Amino acid sequence: MKIKKAVIPAAGLGTRILPVTKAMPKEMLPIIDKPAIQYIVEEAASSGITEIMIITSRGKSILEDHFDRAPELEQKLLESGEAKKELYDSIMSMNSLANIYFVRQQEPKGLGHAILLAKEFIGNDPFAVLYGDDVVTGEVPAISELCDAFEKYGKCVVGVKEVPDEIVRKCSSVKADKITDNIFSVSDMNEKPLPEEKFSNYAIMGRCVLTPEIFGLLEKTERGAGGEIQLTDAMKVIARTEGMTAVEFSGIRHDMGDKFEILKACIEEGLRREEFGDDLKKYIKQLAEKI
Ligand code: UTP
Repeated sequence: MKIKKAVIPAAGLGTRILPVTKAMPKEMLPIIDKPAIQYIVEEAASSGITEIMIITSRGKSILEDHFDRAPELEQKLLESGEAKKELYDSIMSMNSLANIYFVRQQEPKGLGHAILLAKEFIGNDPFAVLYGDDVVTGEVPAISELCDAFEKYGKCVVGVKEVPDEIVRKCSSVKADKITDNIFSVSDMNEKPLPEEKFSNYAIMGRCVLTPEIFGLLEKTERGAGGEIQLTDAMKVIARTEGMTAVEFSGIRHDMGDKFEILKACIEEGLRREEFGDDLKKYIKQLAEKI
């Protein structure tokens, strides 16, 4: 069954990168000229997803504004003719990416709690989850790789990357048995494991495909790590009973909730940009000689 719906949880407080997130959602932080949330919505849309629910929270209405029409701006760009045509087209193309709906999480009770708010929107369909602060860049949209695995193996899917111990302990580790080079069968997982508790160095990285069964499990999930209702605690039940699939997606994941990762995302994306990629390369080389 083709996945047509996605949930983007974007209601977190972003405490790791304060003070910028005091009044500014981390999902609006730019990589060059595009906010994180737009990269993510574009990834979903280019994977065939047509209905997207974004979970926001107090102080994040700028996310709604970003996907709304901007008549004065559109008119001004249009009047500038050829000179601003490319900008006009890029602004207008955002209007037809997908149908986007918003709901507010009233308290930051965790990722699992945020996903639960999409229960009615999802109904009986399998759906994709793309974390609002995880941008993945690359040739193939990461969520399409997970959707393909869902169709092929018929089980819920998590996106993973192999990471060093110091990263695993901040994420969720999965018990993974190799099926192909980048696909694994998952029989267990845990959130923020201590070194002796980790199942493997494969950690969940901001992308999943789930069935509505997850909502019943989330409703029964007690607060876990950090006092929050954790999505991993509910997915763990599925992994242990029916099993899940993990896909090590091909793109590069950028955690927009981490200061150093944001810096790296801007540099890596900058190097890919035709307009100044070569200049940036020169600049980095000059700088490297001085440090
Ligand atoms: P994170 O744990 O990375 O986000 O959640 P956070 O809570 O903002 O992190 P800190 O404060 O810097 O440690 C992963 C995803 O889940 C969303 C976040 O917005 C992010 O996209 N989230 C998290 C919610 O929507 N609601 C929550 O209550 C918590």
